[in-house]
Amino acid sequence: MKKHVPEETIAELADYAAAWTGFSRDAILPDAIRRAVGRDPDEMLRRARRRDPAVVHSLCQAVSVGETFFFRHQEHFKYIASQFLPKRVEQGATQVRAWSAGCATGEEAYSLAACLLEVAPWPPGSIEVLGTDLIERNLTAARAATYGAWSKRASAPILHPLCHPIEGDRVRIDERVRKATRFENRNLLDEPPAGGPFDLIFCRNVLVYFSAKASRTVVAHLVSALAPWGVLFFGPMDVTHGAPHGLVPGARPEEQIWRRPDPDEPRPAKPARRHAAPAAPPPPSQKKMPAPPEPVALHLRALRHIDRGERHVAERALTELCQLVPDYVPGLVERALLKMRNGEQSAAAQLMREVLRRTEKLGPEEMLAGPEPLPVRFYRESADNFLRGAEELSR
Ligand SMILES: C[S@@+](CC[C@H](N)C(=O)[O-])C[C@H]1O[C@@H](n2cnc3c(N)ncnc32)[C@H](O)[C@@H]1O
Repeated sequence: MKKHVPEETIAELADYAAAWTGFSRDAILPDAIRRAVGRDPDEMLRRARRRDPAVVHSLCQAVSVGETFFFRHQEHFKYIASQFLPKRVEQGATQVRAWSAGCATGEEAYSLAACLLEVAPWPPGSIEVLGTDLIERNLTAARAATYGAWSKRASAPILHPLCHPIEGDRVRIDERVRKATRFENRNLLDEPPAGGPFDLIFCRNVLVYFSAKASRTVVAHLVSALAPWGVLFFGPMDVTHGAPHGLVPGARPEEQIWRRPDPDEPRPAKPARRHAAPAAPPPPSQKKMPAPPEPVALHLRALRHIDRGERHVAERALTELCQLVPDYVPGLVERALLKMRNGEQSAAAQLMREVLRRTEKLGPEEMLAGPEPLPVRFYRESADNFLRGAEELSR
């Protein structure tokens, strides 16, 4: 029979798990920790305090979310095939290196390799894809290169030749794709892996669970590993405000595609903080503009609380904001994200449905004021993605 685990033990172990993964403390559910605790909670705590690798790993595994599937976020693969590769060919490139950072069980890394192998005009040996993840079990599954039906989703068709059927509904990754892909155990909080700089970096659906501070550390590592012509991709909910330092949008901001500017392009003037207004300093005429409308100011204040880890204050500020200005869609999304990080999935889903309801009659290109002006389309796609993900998880 399992021993009772005191709340203080759970809280201390959750603090360790947050520090080791980079997760926001609010994103760690006590039940996940409770399940990881063996027969002797005191012994586990002692081992956690001396950073015993087995305990570090089992706590990280307990809190990690490994949801993934082939060709997730199709627009990213379409961008690579239609824009990135043709441009690199024109520039005279003869090889491409890609990194799937936080690759879970490998579906993303193999999808990238399949896309590059089919579209790039170079021999297979010139395509290298590295998948890294914190959880060894995920990497073992990735190296096995066989998958079940859950790795394929109707919403994400197989865009490039990737696998062959084996038995039942199982598939095996094509040998050429497998040979172009390797996997390594790495923590994104550490320095980037050897083998770079990388032309393409995917870090998608990972940072959504991270604290603002850890997310900044990881983004800095990713940018430092990016080649001068490189492109960095996030998931729709990962980094919600502003460009990573030195990068410019490669497509519509909501697609979360960030590239280094071309040498003759104006460079972003200063680092855009995660929750800051646009990266470039405002031109003189804009400096005289009146203060931002009240909801944006209130929203920015709530973001400062989030950055400082003051979740309860942030939650109060956002609740108040949504009551004062119920039509302020960026506030609804922010509140939903906070609820999600707090493990309150159904409250988050309710808020995302509210986002869809309140934007129903608006044109997709209509810009909405917020910490960063973004089109209605961005908020609707974010809400749709969230609700689809929640539905898939509940199946
Ligand atoms: C939701 S999955 C995303 C998989 C894939 N990128 C995708 O979008 O389909 C998040 C992955 O990030 C990994 N992860 C979380 N924290 C990490 C860290 N600090 N370092 C490396 N990987 C981490 C988890 O183990 C998990 O496999």
